[in-house]
Amino acid sequence: MTIQSNDKVITLSSRKSFRPGTRDRLPEPERRPARIVSITSGKGGVGKTNIVANLGYQLSRAGKRVLILDADLGLGNLDILLGLAPRHNLSHVLTGEKHIRDIVIQGPGQLQILPAASGIQELTHLTSDQKMSMLYELDRLLDTVDIFLIDSAAGISSNVLDFSVSAQEIVVVVTPEPTSITDAYALMKVLSTKYAEKTCRLIVNQVASEQEGREIFRQLNLVAQKFLAIKMEYFGCVLQDANLVRYVKQQRLISQADPESPASYGFKNLARRTMALPTAKASQGDPLLFWGHIFQNGAMSHKS
Ligand SMILES: Nc1ncnc2c1ncn2[C@@H]1O[C@H](COP(=O)(O)OP(=O)(O)O)[C@@H](O)[C@H]1O
Ligand SMILES: [Mg+2]
Repeated sequence: MTIQSNDKVITLSSRKSFRPGTRDRLPEPERRPARIVSITSGKGGVGKTNIVANLGYQLSRAGKRVLILDADLGLGNLDILLGLAPRHNLSHVLTGEKHIRDIVIQGPGQLQILPAASGIQELTHLTSDQKMSMLYELDRLLDTVDIFLIDSAAGISSNVLDFSVSAQEIVVVVTPEPTSITDAYALMKVLSTKYAEKTCRLIVNQVASEQEGREIFRQLNLVAQKFLAIKMEYFGCVLQDANLVRYVKQQRLISQADPESPASYGFKNLARRTMALPTAKASQGDPLLFWGHIFQNGAMSHKS
């Protein structure tokens, strides 16, 4: 099967042919494809992990089933942020010690976390049978969630971006620092020229006011409109909040510990916007296609 999606060609063998136990699956019409949202940035340390964790928490509070993929290969610290100590990760699935469902851990609220920072790169060494069986397991897991958030690494190398462009939505995080803004621009440029991405969304983190968030979006959007063929949409901002730093040190989520704090308010707004994202088109946001793409072209083939 070949599917043309967003200028990306995804080729999978017939979906049913590699799915063991097809009978115990829901019939196709009842499957609700998970929304796949990748949170990324040009520069590191801009708040991606905090955004993913708090956004995920707010979404799960709103009744959504949320799975977070910790995919920051370099500096995966989602587990530390949440005060969790996962005993297993994707590498244990690869060695056959565990099933995917056994490594998923529960975070605050109903949040589910797939610790994958270790193991993703090794996927490239699997035989095609092993890949198919892994795809099947991942697909089954995603069948059980509404929103799938990816905490990705920063930067513009292909092993980072191939991952992001497979998602249905790309959200770029930026802070008011000039270096963060120029790196975000560089990221959008690569997304547009190399990956032919047509849209991306922007979160401005650590702002002094909502007005500052809008202003940074306005400036970046002006340059993007002039020089890039990518459409930017404003997704919202999160205020600079000293309480967030305090809770990070205590390994607690500010959204849970202090829902009235300014940053928590921002995360709540981001959750509202995430729930209002357009539903996936038939060929996009399908978890199976997502994983298929990743395995074939993406991060898991470990190019850089
Ligand atoms: N809204 C915010 N207010 C205050 N500090 C923040 C905020 N967002 C992030 N930070 C600070 O930035 C640090 C890095 O955030 P993190 O989410 O780990 O970034 P990334 O995942 O992009 O590397 C946090 O530990 C915290 O100290
Ligand atoms: Mg991070």
